[in-house]
Amino acid sequence: MDNLTVIVLAAGGGTRMKSKTMKVLHPIGGRSMIGHVLAAVQAVEPQRIVAVVGHQRDQVGPHIQQLVPDCVLAVQETQEGTGHAVRVAIEAAGTARGTVVVAAGDTPLLRGESLRAFIAEHEAAQRAVSILSGIVADPFGYGRVIRNPEGDVEAIVEEKDATPEQREIAEINSGILAFDAEFLADALPRISNDNNKGEYYLTDTVQIARDAGMTVGAFAIDDVSETEGANDRAQLAELGRLLNQRIVTDWMREGVTVMDPATTWIDADVQLAQDVTILPGTQLLGATVVADDAVIGPDTTLKDCEVGAGARVVRTHAELAVIGDQAVVGPFSYLRPGTRLGARGKIGAFVETKNAQIGDEAKVPHLSYVGDAEIGEGTNIGAGTIFANYDGVAKHRTVVGRHARTGSNNTFVAPVTIGDGAGTAGGTTVRRDVPPGALAVSSGPQRNLEGWAQSKRAGTAQADAASRAGEQQVSDLTDPGVGNADAGGTQS
Ligand code: UD1
Ligand code: CA
Repeated sequence: MDNLTVIVLAAGGGTRMKSKTMKVLHPIGGRSMIGHVLAAVQAVEPQRIVAVVGHQRDQVGPHIQQLVPDCVLAVQETQEGTGHAVRVAIEAAGTARGTVVVAAGDTPLLRGESLRAFIAEHEAAQRAVSILSGIVADPFGYGRVIRNPEGDVEAIVEEKDATPEQREIAEINSGILAFDAEFLADALPRISNDNNKGEYYLTDTVQIARDAGMTVGAFAIDDVSETEGANDRAQLAELGRLLNQRIVTDWMREGVTVMDPATTWIDADVQLAQDVTILPGTQLLGATVVADDAVIGPDTTLKDCEVGAGARVVRTHAELAVIGDQAVVGPFSYLRPGTRLGARGKIGAFVETKNAQIGDEAKVPHLSYVGDAEIGEGTNIGAGTIFANYDGVAKHRTVVGRHARTGSNNTFVAPVTIGDGAGTAGGTTVRRDVPPGALAVSSGPQRNLEGWAQSKRAGTAQADAASRAGEQQVSDLTDPGVGNADAGGTQS
């Protein structure tokens, strides 16, 4: 929008959060509170955005500049009220023309569309001031919109300055105001701090406009949660729930099946394709992207992950991992950053992976740790395999080629390479490279020390069991009928 300046107020302390972290930096739906406000503001494409920072500006300022690099930062050294904050913003940005909109940095549910509609209404009516108002069940703490008997807006009166009758008014100032820039420049120096809080109230501009015979109006928002601020952590959690409900509902409307919206959490920046199914107890966080027909959950957390079409991810915790098309992960898998699983690959139960590239149709099905590794396409890693990547000082890589078949309970001591089509026997500790097609065997031939339990563990249940098995064997041999019948069963 041309000739539009948006000022976001974020200088206040937010003491009720009782936190080292500034209020507007608290996360909700995968972004900071102010991150949501800035996204809504950016959606209306203003000519410029000015943010007023004060408390902990060494943290808030850089955060804002990272999100909106061309945002003008205005520093309000002492918090003397919203009117003072806007004056500081205008001074930092230089004179504004057209429309100036003021919003607060702690209303994370604000939507760009609502802001756009409000600004359009303000400009069409050519008002000096427009108030984005809301009708609320409990107006306590808000500025009340005072109207005359004809219904025209006359003033905003703050809670602390309101009469008992004014406190009954349910129409409140959301804190989002739109101004004609010239009027605002003229009115700001005329605001006084002669009130019960001793602050310069931006809301006094309404009375100033009325006294000058200018037009003032209020535009009530449909969904008042959009302008609700979170002052403490209980309110933050409640807004988080509402935001999540909105996100989950929006995805269901886009063709995503969500079996249990109440236990499904989806961050604002997650992207889901059509016919994705999300089962109960699932959190999709950060910049996670899920392609068509994938089924996620139950009880799965994916942060900054990419899931391919038709993949199946069950009871899994994964971060910065890529899961290929039609791949299968879980149950009980832990995918750490740098995991890449190819198409139709498998990471199975009780498998942990980190910085591991696992090729198409390659499988790590059971009880394994795969760290700093590359596994070629079509390879199968035996149950209980450890990729020993750490020698106590440095991390090393293991490379397993294509279509290899490694045995159960192996240890691959990195750095080591197992060639294409190679194999390893059960229980192998691979310390030297295995050439393509070779079978590596590291354990020695098995020796059985007969009668060991009876001689070294005499008098224990182990020795008794061994002795009874000995008698059993003898009786089996002396009874040809029973012996034949049992032969097949005892071998399996
Ligand atoms: C303000 C409005 C009130 C409205 C309410 C909505 C005024 C005088 N009152 O009251 O009508 O119903 O918001 O939530 O505007 N801030 C600064 N610098 C300051 C003071 C505040 O940056 O010197 C920032 C705060 O960080 C916050 C916003 O401005 O983001 C609102 O300030 P706050 O003190 O919370 O105003 P309220 O008393 O809630
Ligand atoms: Ca407030």
